[in-house]
Amino acid sequence: MNMTSARDTYPRHAQLPPPSRERYAPSPVSGKPRGEAVRTADGRELILRSIEPGDMAAVQRCFKRLPSQDVRRRFMHAMSELPSPMAQRLCRIDPELEAAYVLIDETVKPAELRGVGRIFVDIASNTAEFSVLVEREWTRIGLGALLMQRLVDECRRRGLSEIWGYVLMENRPMLDLCKELGFVAKMVPGEASTAQISLKL
Ligand SMILES: CC(C)(COP(=O)(O)OP(=O)(O)OC[C@H]1O[C@@H](n2cnc3c(N)ncnc32)[C@H](O)[C@@H]1OP(=O)(O)O)[C@@H](O)C(=O)NCCC(=O)NCCS
Repeated sequence: MNMTSARDTYPRHAQLPPPSRERYAPSPVSGKPRGEAVRTADGRELILRSIEPGDMAAVQRCFKRLPSQDVRRRFMHAMSELPSPMAQRLCRIDPELEAAYVLIDETVKPAELRGVGRIFVDIASNTAEFSVLVEREWTRIGLGALLMQRLVDECRRRGLSEIWGYVLMENRPMLDLCKELGFVAKMVPGEASTAQISLKL
């Protein structure tokens, strides 16, 4: 299994990744999906792979651990719980229109989700909207940048012209992260609290 350092990929110029069928093909030996081992800047280990329907329980547990500020920053409004249909929807993606990468902590039982990044493709504009989340105790060690870079790479692989997302103006960590990755921010008309950040590909 290859070991990727979260910092190795940040900042860097995006490279075309191998096709997803090679990166995430089921392991012929164990029958388990193959992920990519990631070592964080402070030496912790995670598995990076595509999201799966079986991640629903981990997604719901992760949501329960989130501070309300992070829920609002990710979903753009307050939410006290993640309803099961929504969790299911987040885990059962349509690969034609979506991609989602998760960072799984397999050092605990059950394995826990520490981060997730996803894109949703808008065919009409040939762009994709992104979202990203890293669990608070796992922030500031390069994982947000790693996920964002994967999303940028995936958009390039799909031949999209732009990746974009909405970020609350008070969300300094995300605005700083995106600036570091070359995204530009613009105001959303009529929404003083929100910026639209984007990267032309
Ligand atoms: C924003 C978020 C994804 C950042 O994740 P992260 O794993 O901490 O990001 P990284 O460790 O890769 O940080 C990369 C850079 O982003 C910036 N950054 C990240 N967190 C920061 C913070 N708290 N304050 C200032 N800058 C910050 C820094 O420039 C950082 O580089 P540095 O650590 O070398 O200074 C994470 O805080 C998060 O999930 N927040 C809640 C959900 C959210 O806001 N999502 C975005 C809207 S879709």
